[in-house]
Amino acid sequence: MTFQISVNPSGRQFSCEAGETILAAAIRAGVGLPYGCKNGACGSCKGKLVSGSVELGLHQERALSAAEQTTGHTLFCCAVPQSDVTIEAREVLGVGDFPIKKVPVRVAKLERAADDVMIMSLQLPATERMQYKAGQYVEFLLKDGKRRAYSIATPPHSDELLSLHIRHMPGGLFTDHVFGAMKEKDILRFEGPLGTFFLREDSTKPIVLLASGTGFAPIKAIVEHWAQARSSRPVVLYWGGRRPKDLYMHALCDAWSKTLPNLRYVPVVSDAQADDGWTGRTGFVHRAVMEDLPDLSGHQVYACGAPLMVEAAQADFTAQCKLPEDEFYADSFTSEADLADAVA
Ligand code: FES
Repeated sequence: MTFQISVNPSGRQFSCEAGETILAAAIRAGVGLPYGCKNGACGSCKGKLVSGSVELGLHQERALSAAEQTTGHTLFCCAVPQSDVTIEAREVLGVGDFPIKKVPVRVAKLERAADDVMIMSLQLPATERMQYKAGQYVEFLLKDGKRRAYSIATPPHSDELLSLHIRHMPGGLFTDHVFGAMKEKDILRFEGPLGTFFLREDSTKPIVLLASGTGFAPIKAIVEHWAQARSSRPVVLYWGGRRPKDLYMHALCDAWSKTLPNLRYVPVVSDAQADDGWTGRTGFVHRAVMEDLPDLSGHQVYACGAPLMVEAAQADFTAQCKLPEDEFYADSFTSEADLADAVA
């Protein structure tokens, strides 16, 4: 049995198989509903159910509160239709531009960027090319049916190798393998491109990029894409880590700030030790943004990293710095995936 999904206000329609979530059906149909974690943790896919009924699967209270449910809100990544439904959602233009493919890839290079960060470069088959938007991610398809999501750190214009930044979560099946037995020339399978976290190029607003840890990966792709497009929009990049070594591409960011006139780089360290010799900004990275830019009413913000950082940034920027709610774009799945890996 299939159900018909109608989207307000665009009027787009797509069909949903029995047992399928609204988001899964939308991705299949190339309809750009916003999303991040796809597992009820981040709230990015939240929207309204206008008519019809859904069964809402497991999700976290922070992603959808009981109060929000009473006002008709739901999470499209967890909502399985029980009838034809109409939903209200802000659609992301351009999501369906590129086909989502499952492809085998060869591990071309494994390079340690820090004790606990591996840069994995992947080679697609000679006959394949993957088109994507800077900021999107791929999901590894593991043998046990599980998936692990990682952002693509290379910009679309230099896609002969795709690089991913992988943080080691000791005890996690996938990352233990990456930091242990995995070697160059191994074959993996992934699906992509996925995600709605990418630069909205129809805007002229100044851009704030906010990253923590390996949340830097999609931000790197966005910066390199922005530079290649010769955009005149000013960019300020905030990258936070606990210790200076967590900013594992600090030298690259420094070089950008010297060679790209419209880009400013602010590294922020929250837990510097005396022997780090750190003389830069300290504290929480999103707080540094608020100190420097107390009025974000004319900006767009792109944030990727630990869920706690992303949530705090969203709440504080909109409540205290006048950032319009629909100008905050976020991806927190990297850490969610790591977390899932650690408990797998
Ligand atoms: S809660 Fe649905 S995508 Fe994260």
